[in-house]
Amino acid sequence: MTKTFLAGILILAATLAAGCSDKQFSASASVGPNGSARVERGKYLVAVMGCNDCHTPLKMGAAGPEPDMARFLTGHPETIGPLPTVRQQGPWVWMGAATNTAFSGPWGVSYAANLTPDRNTGLGIWTEDMFVKAIRTGKHMGTSREILPPMPWPAFRNASDEDLKSVYAYLRTLKPVVNHVPDVTPPAVATDQH
Ligand code: HEC
Repeated sequence: MTKTFLAGILILAATLAAGCSDKQFSASASVGPNGSARVERGKYLVAVMGCNDCHTPLKMGAAGPEPDMARFLTGHPETIGPLPTVRQQGPWVWMGAATNTAFSGPWGVSYAANLTPDRNTGLGIWTEDMFVKAIRTGKHMGTSREILPPMPWPAFRNASDEDLKSVYAYLRTLKPVVNHVPDVTPPAVATDQH
């Protein structure tokens, strides 16, 4: 009887402690753009949201294609260059590069961006506001052309401001890598080429 009672108290205490630490986390996570809790949260989100799937080139490993972590989040490799455009319409309408960083389809050809903070070829000059707006609105840098498939911004736009800011904060901590990703090829030009 007493044991059960004590166990009940212990469970209650554990629940309260968990509640407290959650609160502590969210309080420290919003301290500032470079707060380490935010960066840690961003690292976790980038892993869970699969940014690596398209923004890190695949290389051939012993067990098949694997992300080339030496080029983590550096986007479509400039050494590969542009992907041919797709002419065929019908049930098979798109094709991709072996690196899974370039995608040719009815939208033209899109190339996964360099997400490292390199000034000229990555997100170097992007502000936090631009990043959040780009993901929320699906507009390049938050203001101009539409961000093309398969960038899953229609799903990511549902993330909270705090989460998007955390992703941004983490991306700022990456080593800047110079990799000039080709510009998109719009569909009209893609059709003209064939
Ligand atoms: C399924 C593939 C895919 C995944 C997963 C993906 N992206 Fe992208 N992303 C792309 C492609 C392709 C582009 C280029 C689109 C374009 O140029 O219109 C892009 C472009 C971007 C851009 C540049 C947008 C702009 O305004 O030019 C940012 C920033 C970005 N992605 C961030 C992310 C982040 C952060 C994640 C993970 C949370 C992520 N992406 C996951 C494919 C992907």
